[in-house]
Amino acid sequence: MKVETYEKAFLALSGITLVICLGVLLYVPIGFGIHLPGRVAEIDPKEVRTTPPFDNPGVRQTGPNEYEVVLIGQAWTFIPPEVRVPVGAKITFTATSADVIHGFHIEGTRMNMMLIPGEVSQNTYTFQRPGEYVVICHEYCGLGHHTMFGKVIAE
Ligand code: CUA
Repeated sequence: MKVETYEKAFLALSGITLVICLGVLLYVPIGFGIHLPGRVAEIDPKEVRTTPPFDNPGVRQTGPNEYEVVLIGQAWTFIPPEVRVPVGAKITFTATSADVIHGFHIEGTRMNMMLIPGEVSQNTYTFQRPGEYVVICHEYCGLGHHTMFGKVIAE
């Protein structure tokens, strides 16, 4: 075969690879409904403590095996700092920040959100194993950032 033939083949291969990658990139979010933890609503960051559901943070049952956990991130704690949820139930975490940008990551899980002032973040997770899960703030939020922890107890 001539050199040009190899060159053409490799060019075609590169093109096909690009098309496949683009296809996968589009197919995963659309086909499986996978997306970044969404911004579900806006909120006045100065009125967080008086705006439902954040006027009453904590765990509430929303269905036969469904719970919602409402949380506020603020320097340098999570409110409430500890929640108890049942193993095997669908847990919807609804959270926002009362001051600056915080992170919300439950160690050992894929639960990971940013808490942005003025925005409500939401994501769901089901704990398959009982245990104490540490919640960490992974966005630098000031002097006490490294002390900002929470806890989720799945039981
Ligand atoms: Cu909150 Cu770092």
